[in-house]
Amino acid sequence: MEFENIETITLLGAGSMGHGIAEVAALAGYEVRLRDIKTEFVENGYEQLVWSLDKLAEKDQISEEEADAAADRVTPLVDVKEAVDDTDVVIEAVPEKMEIKKDVYSEVETYAPDRTIFATNTSSLSITDLSEVTDRPEQFCGMHFFNPPVRMQLVEVITGSHTAESTLDAVEQLAEAFGKTPIRVHKDSPGFIVNRILVPLMNETCWMVSDDEATVAEIDSTTKFDMGLPMGAFELGDQVGNDVTYHVLQYLQEVLGDAYEPAPFLKETVDAERYGKKSGEGFYDYENGGVDIPT
Ligand code: 3HC
Repeated sequence: MEFENIETITLLGAGSMGHGIAEVAALAGYEVRLRDIKTEFVENGYEQLVWSLDKLAEKDQISEEEADAAADRVTPLVDVKEAVDDTDVVIEAVPEKMEIKKDVYSEVETYAPDRTIFATNTSSLSITDLSEVTDRPEQFCGMHFFNPPVRMQLVEVITGSHTAESTLDAVEQLAEAFGKTPIRVHKDSPGFIVNRILVPLMNETCWMVSDDEATVAEIDSTTKFDMGLPMGAFELGDQVGNDVTYHVLQYLQEVLGDAYEPAPFLKETVDAERYGKKSGEGFYDYENGGVDIPT
């Protein structure tokens, strides 16, 4: 698939990354299909997408006409066949579990045309392993966006062992057409570059709370106001999704060892379904006060 011929993009998964990437693609002028397994998931994702477009328009970052046109370019869908029929690129953003992703690819390849590129937004999983469950490993690569996609500039384009140069070229050009800055990650290593650095940082802060060495407030003040991160470490965890961080750590622990063992405080937070902003509560309670980082 040549970049110049890309017109239609399918997003698999309408969660925070799926609907955010769909928004970015629609703003860039592509026809977008946003698919999830249940109507309520797709509707919720589409509502969030419209909320974000309205917010951008409210702040004069785009016009109201651009917001409406982008929303109109997105078709919410549940039927997988309809979602990938005659599409040019599939960007998969389903939960960060190898088995779930593999199941999705086996289903999707049945209906997607031979020319279609498969790009995974996985946060950490092996691109090579995922590509090998498909019928087109050479047309498969990582395309890793950051949360929130509409605001974050970087896209990691990750090479699997079988990925063709032409696939990487097309996906890099697509990221540029989205207004993003792609960086090519030449090695398919766990967590790639950003998450290999960032996720252990977020886990370490959770270990400090688990071991009663520091509080959430102390750590967020330090990470935000002393270390210069745009958000406190726990605020960032809530932005990313604590379930996502936890799943990435489980994978890193499995393939790289116990240095990546998720901290008990993170596990408790996930077990209590405090996933972060998307569920209304995480390390902070977004329905009652939200983030409050002492200066
Ligand atoms: N769409 C539109 N508006 C949004 C939005 C979205 N998706 N998300 C937040 N906003 C709005 C907020 O509602 C708020 O609006 P308000 O002013 O009306 O209350 C406003 O944006 C805040 O924007 P500001 O410009 O005032 O705030 P900042 O300058 O602090 O920017 C930020 C916000 C860009 C999110 C910044 O805090 C930031 O860069 N944070 C770090 C995020 C980051 O590092 N993400 C990567 C995490 S790693 C990852 O995702 C990988 C994964 O695999 C784990």
